[in-house]
Amino acid sequence: MKNIIKSYADFDIHRKIGALIKKHSENSQDIRDVVNSAINWPHIHTILDLGCGYGWFEERLEGKFDYIMGIDCHPSNEQAFLSITMPLARTSVFVTRYLPSPIDVPADFFDLVASAYSLYFFPEVLPVVKRVLKPEGIFLVITHSEAMLEEGEMFFQFDNLRKVIQNFSAENGVEILSTYFTDITIIDYYNNIIFNKEEKEDLEQYIDFKKEFIAKDVDHEVVKTTMLCELDRRGILRFNKNDRIFLASK
Ligand SMILES: C[S@@+](CC[C@H](N)C(=O)[O-])C[C@H]1O[C@@H](n2cnc3c(N)ncnc32)[C@H](O)[C@@H]1O
Repeated sequence: MKNIIKSYADFDIHRKIGALIKKHSENSQDIRDVVNSAINWPHIHTILDLGCGYGWFEERLEGKFDYIMGIDCHPSNEQAFLSITMPLARTSVFVTRYLPSPIDVPADFFDLVASAYSLYFFPEVLPVVKRVLKPEGIFLVITHSEAMLEEGEMFFQFDNLRKVIQNFSAENGVEILSTYFTDITIIDYYNNIIFNKEEKEDLEQYIDFKKEFIAKDVDHEVVKTTMLCELDRRGILRFNKNDRIFLASK
């Protein structure tokens, strides 16, 4: 797990891969726009982002907030996170910390707690989220579907990766959240990542980025060779990238 997490230390690469995923996405709507239209923003003044990375979620926010706190285990994300959030908030703070851990704010502090593509790394943080979320606040989670592994699993076994995703997935998220939260709403975001024959380099970069994710299961060079052959053979490759958005309150 440590090596998977380490792969998020370089925010330039993370940003580049985000752009690559967008370029190859069948769904042209940005998932953050789906999230943003589901939240009652005038009620949101204080935001906590768990596993915030470089500030991908905040990058798409508009308006002015009182307080934004991002927590991530990689200090390398601090500068980018603050440069995105400082214009958005009266106070913005980046905390370098391995979650789960206590969060040093009073109880019932945040209007919105967000965790985008990160809760499966630290699902034990849920009681802490419950403590710091206001009674009328919203807990937002964006996560992957276990189905995203299906294409790859036609060729390889991704047992370790499956275990990580199953810590909190589209499929089991409601069950996990319902121990601590109520009023759970789900919004499905359907997508495929598509590579055509002329886009081999992009496919290589995509698999390179997944290197640490799959390292425990299979050598990414083997995955690359296999998938490039498949792309040659089929002329097009399509990977399931269905995500699920959860909105919950306590
Ligand atoms: C897939 S990235 C998502 C980043 C950002 N939320 C986004 O959507 O672009 C997962 C993030 O969680 C962070 N992370 C993973 N495990 C963590 C932990 N135990 N404590 C704090 N941050 C962690 C990583 O450093 C990384 O920035």
